[in-house]
Amino acid sequence: MKATAIAPSNIAFIKYWGKKNKRLRLPTNGSISMNLSNLQTTTTVEFSPRFKNDEVIIDGEKDINKTDRVIKHLDRIRKIANLNDRAKVVSKNNFPSDTGLSSSASAFAALTLAGISAAGINMSKKELSILARQGSGSACRSIPDGFVEWLDGETSDTSYAVSLYPPDYWHIADVVAIISNEKKEVSSTGGQEIVKSSPFFLTRLNHMRDKIEKLKLFLRERNFRQFGELIEAEALELHAIMITSQPSLIYWLPETVIIMKLVKKLRKGGLPVYFTINTGQDVHLIVEQKNIQRLLKKLKLIRGIKNLIVNYPAGGAKLTENHLF
Ligand code: PMV
Repeated sequence: MKATAIAPSNIAFIKYWGKKNKRLRLPTNGSISMNLSNLQTTTTVEFSPRFKNDEVIIDGEKDINKTDRVIKHLDRIRKIANLNDRAKVVSKNNFPSDTGLSSSASAFAALTLAGISAAGINMSKKELSILARQGSGSACRSIPDGFVEWLDGETSDTSYAVSLYPPDYWHIADVVAIISNEKKEVSSTGGQEIVKSSPFFLTRLNHMRDKIEKLKLFLRERNFRQFGELIEAEALELHAIMITSQPSLIYWLPETVIIMKLVKKLRKGGLPVYFTINTGQDVHLIVEQKNIQRLLKKLKLIRGIKNLIVNYPAGGAKLTENHLF
């Protein structure tokens, strides 16, 4: 049995950073994101008695570190499906992985949907989201469509993501400024383990519910200015936590700061644009679609930007007949 799925990465407006249960990947707080149309993973999974071992090929390579995590996820699928067959997994990203563009979100969402379908199981979006979460937290948000909320939950069954609005609800975009394709020094998984060492972590936790409600209100009203101000402050708060963790996590490069300052300048000049940043040096610029060209023109003048990827709000993970093998 063979199946292929294609899943988007997502950008978190309210971030997931810290777990209350490491094994189950239950987050300390809920989060809100948007699926991205141009950052995608395609994955084909086949289970067969012909295979002696699991074989995992990601972007043409066999990487031992990644293989382990994929096999653990295949084991979860085999357990649900009561299946003993080994699997072949071939996966392809249309963007550089491990640089902070949340390739694990698209990767584990695609692996979950392809794996479950290849095992001959039918699952609801909620069940798929719960399963994807156990592979990589942010992957649970790449299952539903468009603008998404991950409900933190107290148990595995209550921690999953739901669609708040479909992709065409709001005409905004995420222009990603790629600064470097260098792999990050500390993975998100590693970084999340030391989050509690930051003296500001509890302060953050205490106002997360409030923050989520506020963001949902700005989303509901499609209030771009208030929405933008909140997501930018949230990204800076996340990085304040990272920078003050022990050991400290500094993901920015000089160009990251140059773009952050440019964004403020552009706003002063009448172009509404806001930034958010994950575990990496690249900057996500959130802008209304009508202003994309104006923004691109300004960004093209900045030396140090290697590539620009324009993303629109997108649907969640879906099956395709275009198998990779
Ligand atoms: O799902 P992970 O372990 O890759 O963590 C994602 C962490 C952030 O990208 C920084 C925030 C988020 O919510 O996507």
